[in-house]
Amino acid sequence: MNAPTAEIIFDDNMKVLTEMPSESVNLIYVDPPFNTQKVQARKRLKTTRTTDGDGDRVGFKGQSYKTEVLGEQSYSDIHVDYLGFLRERVEQTHRILAPNGSFFLHLDYREIHYAKVMCDEIFGRDSFINEIIWSYDYGGRSKSRWSAKHDNILWYAKDPKDFTFRFDDMDRIPYMAPGLVGPEKAARGKTPTDSWWHTIVSPNGKEKTGYPTQKPLGIINRIIRVHSNPGDTVLDYFAGSGTTGIAAITHGRNAILVDNNPQSLGVMCKRFDPSTTKFRNWDCTPVERNEERQLDLMSNEPKY
Ligand SMILES: C[S@@+](CC[C@H](N)C(=O)[O-])C[C@H]1O[C@@H](n2cnc3c(N)ncnc32)[C@H](O)[C@@H]1O
Repeated sequence: MNAPTAEIIFDDNMKVLTEMPSESVNLIYVDPPFNTQKVQARKRLKTTRTTDGDGDRVGFKGQSYKTEVLGEQSYSDIHVDYLGFLRERVEQTHRILAPNGSFFLHLDYREIHYAKVMCDEIFGRDSFINEIIWSYDYGGRSKSRWSAKHDNILWYAKDPKDFTFRFDDMDRIPYMAPGLVGPEKAARGKTPTDSWWHTIVSPNGKEKTGYPTQKPLGIINRIIRVHSNPGDTVLDYFAGSGTTGIAAITHGRNAILVDNNPQSLGVMCKRFDPSTTKFRNWDCTPVERNEERQLDLMSNEPKY
């Protein structure tokens, strides 16, 4: 089998989707903006220890630290007609999916119920297979309500009688009470259910790109491994830092990624191997100097 490749497109995803051939993609995972009605932003900080006590934060054993803002990544999550925005993209998703393809829509409590009804209308209620709850445990706790610490991922199969589900390729998780199942089973672990416990991308970990709302590879790896075959094509048209593409390439699948935020493309330039990645409407070298040119390229309505 040929080495997997990635195609990364800088453009509005609606434009890309309408130009893609029907039934051409095996798996579509998207993590759109959640309609939080704010600009999602992450600052890149550098903290240095100070000896003269003039730092702006105090750490372990009262040690003083100075913080410097190195940069910020952001995208807008403010929508006038959020469901209208999503609907036209999900309609294209249905058209582009291969006859045995699957669609994963990642949202949270704000829009998931409205989106479920909308997807039922487009795919048919029989095509809804699972709602996966991804639970994490990070950040502050509310004192006035139950703290929201989960996201929702809807799975639709284009044909509910014919879809890819590679049960044997599932990663296994530890039993809660290994003593009750015997050493062999305990060592093998159990298969996950539709409730997935997984940490968020660690703020200090290797995986972190600095892109706001980056999703953990552990979640996307599981979806790619179970719901697509080696050599398949995986599409993410809200690509952000490119997590879906990295998971696809790692598991021998081809990836098509789309985002309309220059900062997302800047992150993906650093994250992907240039020898197996083709960028459309974007020149990776060097990112900052080319930003003006990139915007020019976009207004030229390039073909891909
Ligand atoms: C929640 S983030 C995706 C994060 C990604 N899953 C990751 O792990 O990094 C949503 C992304 O959708 C992009 N986006 C929003 N509207 C878009 C549009 N119309 N066309 C293309 N990309 C869009 C934003 O720029 C943002 O990068």
